[in-house]
Amino acid sequence: MEMLSVDVLGICGSPRKGNSEFLLQQALEAARSVDPDHVQCTLYSVRGKKLAPCVSCFRCGELEGECVIKDDFQQLRELWVAADAIIYSVPVYHMGIPGQLKCFIDRLGNSLFGRYRHLFPAGVESLPKQLKVVASIAQGVHLCSGQEHTITDLINHALVMQCVPVAGDLWESYIGPAGWTGKDIARDALARQFERGEGDAAILVKAARDVGRRVVEMARILKAGGRQLREHLQDDPSYAPFLERIGR
Ligand SMILES: Cc1cc2nc3c(=O)[nH]c(=O)nc-3n(C[C@H](O)[C@H](O)[C@H](O)COP(=O)(O)O)c2cc1C
Repeated sequence: MEMLSVDVLGICGSPRKGNSEFLLQQALEAARSVDPDHVQCTLYSVRGKKLAPCVSCFRCGELEGECVIKDDFQQLRELWVAADAIIYSVPVYHMGIPGQLKCFIDRLGNSLFGRYRHLFPAGVESLPKQLKVVASIAQGVHLCSGQEHTITDLINHALVMQCVPVAGDLWESYIGPAGWTGKDIARDALARQFERGEGDAAILVKAARDVGRRVVEMARILKAGGRQLREHLQDDPSYAPFLERIGR
């Protein structure tokens, strides 16, 4: 049987090269290790990028999804649309998702609604079933300080985008890799703790690697299933972008 290729996009939500990026690299390395010849990984960081907030003009509904604000949003949106799997890795900010990433997510939803609107009859517009695999990693400086809430927000985003959230493996990860830096605000806190063999960092790295492998496996399951069921699914226009992405 042909080995199905998988494009994994890692999105780092930190404005610095720090702990989130370290965990994302672990996850992407594990994803690639599943099948280096067929798994392509891209790491995109919001660091230094301009991602302005949505201004609620709703022009994207009239402009086939184009956003009137021109910044780094367009490039990241196209990477997102092309990927089979997305891994978000974010620092907890004020018990939630950091602002730059939230700006991207807000604009992504409305922009793609506009882009795919033509697929649906007037009056019953919807978002197509993207069926991308989405995993979310979150870490903060303290314990129980927003990690689960942040991951839940990203799972909600995945569901709204008609994607498939995955968590990784129990017992290290219930809803996604979540951890803390042991009160250390340094950008390399987790890397150093992991090198020293410290328990919490080791658990977090294992969880990140598990989720990296899992997105590849799940993306292949979806791709194989989608190809198998193409004839039935193509009657429903909401599967069009998925069927186009997975090929035959
Ligand atoms: C504006 C801001 C808000 C933060 N809020 C939280 C928080 O609510 N909970 C928490 O545990 N850590 C919080 N932190 C700490 C970061 O999540 C933590 O330092 C993390 O390791 C940073 O990840 P990075 O190295 O990838 O940037 C906050 C940091 C900043 C700058």
